[in-house]
Amino acid sequence: MSRKSLAVLFACLLFVAPLSARESAKPSAQPPGAAIASAHALATDAGFETLRAGGNAFDAAVAVSAVLSVVEPISSGLGGGGFFLLHDAKTGKDVFVDAREMAPAAATQERYLTADGGFDRDRAVNGPWAAGIPGLPAAFVHVAETYGKLPLRTSLAPAIRIARDGFPVYARFARGYQQRREVMERYPGTRAVYLASGAAPKEGEVFRQPDLARTLELLAGHGFDGFYRGEVAAKLVAGVNAEGGQWTGEELAAYTVKEREPVRFRYRDWDIVTAPPPSSGGIALAQMLQILSGWDLQELDEPLRVHLVAESMRRAFRDRTFYLGDPDFVKVPQRLLTSPDYAAGLRATINPSRATPSDLLSGEQTPLEDEETTHFSIIDAEGNRAAVTQTVNLLFGSGLVPPGTGVLLNNEMDDFALKPGTPNAFGVMGYDANAPAPGKRMLSSMTPTFMQSPGKVVVLGTPGGSRIITMVLLGILGFDAGLDAQAVSALPRYHQQWMPDVIEAESGAFTPQVAQSLRALGHSLKLPGDEAAGGRGSSHVWGNLQTVEWDLADNALHGGSDPRNPVGKAAVEAIGATAR
Ligand code: DON
Repeated sequence: MSRKSLAVLFACLLFVAPLSARESAKPSAQPPGAAIASAHALATDAGFETLRAGGNAFDAAVAVSAVLSVVEPISSGLGGGGFFLLHDAKTGKDVFVDAREMAPAAATQERYLTADGGFDRDRAVNGPWAAGIPGLPAAFVHVAETYGKLPLRTSLAPAIRIARDGFPVYARFARGYQQRREVMERYPGTRAVYLASGAAPKEGEVFRQPDLARTLELLAGHGFDGFYRGEVAAKLVAGVNAEGGQWTGEELAAYTVKEREPVRFRYRDWDIVTAPPPSSGGIALAQMLQILSGWDLQELDEPLRVHLVAESMRRAFRDRTFYLGDPDFVKVPQRLLTSPDYAAGLRATINPSRATPSDLLSGEQTPLEDEETTHFSIIDAEGNRAAVTQTVNLLFGSGLVPPGTGVLLNNEMDDFALKPGTPNAFGVMGYDANAPAPGKRMLSSMTPTFMQSPGKVVVLGTPGGSRIITMVLLGILGFDAGLDAQAVSALPRYHQQWMPDVIEAESGAFTPQVAQSLRALGHSLKLPGDEAAGGRGSSHVWGNLQTVEWDLADNALHGGSDPRNPVGKAAVEAIGATAR
């Protein structure tokens, strides 16, 4: 380990929560190669390129993350944040690297109110006030220096190349641009990137980002300071402030990733390791699965199974609303919420023959934007694992690129409870625990997750806002029911989030008979094309689940890439392990 890496590790031990003291059970054999699943083939390929260059899963995670930042600005990028859940096969340790954005000091709740005291939704999701201080570049530096084997320059090389030389625009990219066009074209820095050819990006055209290539080069050459201090930082601050925002150089320089202890619990045969606060995902998963462990779901008929799963979702989302936020700022009652006894209490409140009304004001219904954010999963030949979910929040984030940086800023501020009790873009709301404060991290639903049973190791995750949590839940239940990775990524999805009091579902999730039985149990359903039922619109695309599995019985690797996204890629290659 280099002196620099040692220094970083030492600093981490001093200033952030310690690495997990507990260890996952170690699988005995080593995988026969590596598996990567991501939302874009160029990113999956970059991961394998990095492994072939002698890197491990963590170097590959940096490479995949950086390429996704270049080819999927609709979903994530250097101007956003993410969570890296890592498993080191040698030590058996799991660590959660929190690279969530932080609130700028000036972004107080009052900033998001209109003159008449209403919620200024435009300010919350568009332009300079929508953006938190980015975290993803700091994650690249931290993960590469602390856990990788290669210099950051090598892991970032594919991203730099693709930013400079370009990649073919795909349908979702071109469609997303059209959806966000009005906002993107408000800002000269954004126009310079997206209208560089004189017109909006068109499917099949090569899209180049020379400024982003240079920003990545500065990051590769100077590490943290290449982004958070100096030229890039100065341009970020100038670009935000020129549009009426209020960022300072000190805030950027003070950004720091945090290492946190993952949430762990057991569900049947599985040890689950998943995202702690400031994600709400792990706590919600622990609640839902521990509630559900009171039944043998496979033995139940489908309406009853869906009813119980939806009731567990409802209860977890209610607690999310009131209790969850950045643990550095609020006391999250994590021990209570994740305890099997608490789950048993919640289970006792479920009536198997009747839906529990959420008993809430209906709240403001907001249209759901297209599914963005991105997740990738990696297992390398040493058995190291990376589950990474990263985001700029909604489609193309805030739409603002500070001139000269190529960095599209996030609109993650909308994930705070900017106005208490007012639903955000995903229809979820919150109160004090998730109120904004200087330097605070906004509550997330991103849920990168590992599961391990005596027979299998699985890495999984997906985008989808508040639906992330329930998609990961259904994924876990799918693996538990014996499905393979590809089948799990294709599973039809449904979701209940307490408020609005409705189960929404993809087409094909329920047969007409199951839907009828659920209604008879007292559930409101929002099915595609079913406008009368209320709730958020059910868009036809739900998430983008990327998963890899290592079958220990026959020592085989498999990947699953969500068939809803045609440019994704899951692959397995026989790239051998090199000793660390
Ligand atoms: O962190 C979160 O929970 C959200 N910013 C994720 C956004 C997302 O998944 C967008 N996809 N629909």
